[in-house]
Amino acid sequence: MLETFASEPFVRWLDGVVQDEVTETRWLNLLSQLEYVGCRKILKSIPYERVNASVLQHIQEEALHAHLLKQLVLKRGGKDAWEDPSWSESGWEYIQSVDRQICEGLSPVMYYPLVSWVIEQRVMWLYPWYLEKTSDPAIKRVLTTILAQEKRHADQFAEHGFNSENQLEAVRIEERAWNKLIVKLSAGDDLFETPYDGYSATH
Ligand SMILES: [Fe+2]
Ligand SMILES: [Fe+2]
Repeated sequence: MLETFASEPFVRWLDGVVQDEVTETRWLNLLSQLEYVGCRKILKSIPYERVNASVLQHIQEEALHAHLLKQLVLKRGGKDAWEDPSWSESGWEYIQSVDRQICEGLSPVMYYPLVSWVIEQRVMWLYPWYLEKTSDPAIKRVLTTILAQEKRHADQFAEHGFNSENQLEAVRIEERAWNKLIVKLSAGDDLFETPYDGYSATH
């Protein structure tokens, strides 16, 4: 498990999520949305003339992740549509704020791989935690499949040779957006005894 990100209080929050079937299904639907947005981001960010076999494979795998997670949602009686507006909007805000802030000040050539790198770091941190916490064997199987592919994506982006200052800044931006996302997901929910004390939506 990567040490890049602070695990508290997210892990406490996740403990609450996996104890409630309906909330865990909402969470899976949000993860499906985020995977779909990742797929869409590749399609929109890479110019046609730079699309090669490895890019096509990445598109296919991100679409597969979104679909596998959506299948779990449906199996558990969740929605075929995206999640209710509050969670869905929070998911979009997370991606867009990482994207926008990293884009500022970096050339378009560098920003796509850096955004992708930092999001892969989050994925490689998040899914092992989720794999450990969930008790549903079907979810565990899907997460194991996704993780094997994400590991390869993370390695590919790591080969890009970013300067460490940019990487640190990207981690800082992503972590702020991530904390804000989790604050929003836990807002107004009495399911959680310890909803992100010490963090605020403007953190
Ligand atoms: Fe993915
Ligand atoms: Fe990926």
